Amino acid sequence: MKRILMLGASGSLAQVVIPRLLENPHHQLTLFVRNKNSVQQFADRATVIEGDVLDLDALNTAMRGQDYVYAGLSGSLEPMAQNVVEAVQENEVKHLIWISSMGIYNETGENHGSILDPYKKSAQIIENSTISYTIIRPAWFDNGTMDYVLTQKGEAFKGRAVSRASIADLIGKIFDNPNAFKQQSIGIGRV
Ligand SMILES: NC(=O)c1ccc[n+]([C@@H]2O[C@H](COP(=O)([O-])OP(=O)(O)OC[C@H]3O[C@@H](n4cnc5c(N)ncnc54)[C@H](OP(=O)(O)O)[C@@H]3O)[C@@H](O)[C@H]2O)c1
Repeated sequence: MKRILMLGASGSLAQVVIPRLLENPHHQLTLFVRNKNSVQQFADRATVIEGDVLDLDALNTAMRGQDYVYAGLSGSLEPMAQNVVEAVQENEVKHLIWISSMGIYNETGENHGSILDPYKKSAQIIENSTISYTIIRPAWFDNGTMDYVLTQKGEAFKGRAVSRASIADLIGKIFDNPNAFKQQSIGIGRV
């Protein structure tokens, strides 16, 4: 069994990622949410825990015994990243997937202004840590079909949009074989 903790489980991306991960009978999901009603539709197939990522004690409790963590969060990303790294270390979690955004390394050639600063700083916290991680830098989400191209850190980003189904597919592949994606920051878009 692979035990996976989902942070941001009520988020728009997680709503597509969760069913994709549940297709694998070896995945045991725990959904960490501020309000359990937000993931009611999965309550019969996953464990649900209420808590706040900014509450390190609650996060540590939720991470105990987990193998992998998905974090698709919005809000105060920097302190969230700090707490997530600390709890991953404390609980010896094997791999973290952190959802960020295209543009954090100026790889899109566009000026996004200061809007990406929390994404840049939180990604730096993950990259400067000693944990095993994959950062995903998606283009704008849509609900199109699966069709995507990946780029590595240092390469020009490809695409403007990408379907949530495509990102969910990549996440499934990473949890199948985390070592193949270890310490990578991957751009995902549709061309
Ligand atoms: N939309 C796009 O086109 C796009 C493109 C690239 C990157 N991204 C980024 O990708 C990430 C995931 O996107 P998304 O659409 O899934 O985001 P979302 O729908 O805004 O979901 C964010 C999640 O974070 C949770 N959260 C916020 N603060 C929390 C806290 N203190 N404790 C626990 N949970 C907390 C929310 O839970 P609650 O239900 O409790 O609020 C929610 O589940 C975001 O960072 C987003 O900015 C989005």
